[in-house]
Amino acid sequence: MTGFLVVSGLSVRFGGVHALAGVDLEVAEGALVGLIGPNGAGKSTFIDAVTGFLRPSAGRVLLGAHRLDGLAPHRRVTAGLGRTWQSVELFEDLTVVENLQVAARHGAGADLPAVLHLLGLDDVAHRRGKDLSHGQRKLVGVARALAGRPRLLLLDEPAAGLDTAESAELGRTLRRVCDGGTAILLIDHDMDLVLGTCDHVYVLDLGRVLVDGPPADVRADPRVVAAYLGAAAT
Ligand SMILES: Nc1ncnc2c1ncn2[C@@H]1O[C@H](COP(=O)(O)OP(=O)(O)OP(=O)(O)O)[C@@H](O)[C@H]1O
Ligand SMILES: [Mg+2]
Repeated sequence: MTGFLVVSGLSVRFGGVHALAGVDLEVAEGALVGLIGPNGAGKSTFIDAVTGFLRPSAGRVLLGAHRLDGLAPHRRVTAGLGRTWQSVELFEDLTVVENLQVAARHGAGADLPAVLHLLGLDDVAHRRGKDLSHGQRKLVGVARALAGRPRLLLLDEPAAGLDTAESAELGRTLRRVCDGGTAILLIDHDMDLVLGTCDHVYVLDLGRVLVDGPPADVRADPRVVAAYLGAAAT
């Protein structure tokens, strides 16, 4: 796999806590890569460090030919990164379209009707943020990130709070996004979504990559089972 995003040795400390301890991770161009791990494993910290919201203590982040280290978040957006947050914050009094327009102003002008269509949001395009269902809000979060025309999208738990059918639909949607040429790093606790949708999966535990490989190998790996059971037992 030739990496488009190539992260090496990424480390983040919060006081005495090593939230990330030398993480190596790659996402190929147009690939859908999963990042899973128990609560507190460092998944959100990884996105924050890659997108420039946190300063790592060590490591390198390359996106294509661009070295992103030390750049402010908006410069990384210009370089091609898009992200969502674990909790979706929308402009509640703005419509879905307006929420996207605000995001697109900073980007290279995505075709917003196409983005809405891709995410199945056409019917609620003119509904206000506060009138959306939880699932719709999550999708608007993804749409907003896509409005910036990213080449790599980092998604932090987009399926949290979705029911099984909504989550399966999200998986198909993310695959379409990838087919359109946008690579995705997908963080989620929904194993069916991540293992059923991704091309390659990384498992993070206590700030380190425990295992990475194709979904079938990861699902069967005893270290992965142990990490999750260990986390459940504490
Ligand atoms: N701002 C912060 N200050 C101090 N410690 C933090 C901070 N943010 C995260 N941590 C710690 O860093 C570790 C990794 O947290 P992180 O939020 O990245 O985990 P996560 O894998 O995203 O978990 P979850 O699945 O619950 O979202 C945890 O031990 C967490 O308590
Ligand atoms: Mg998290």
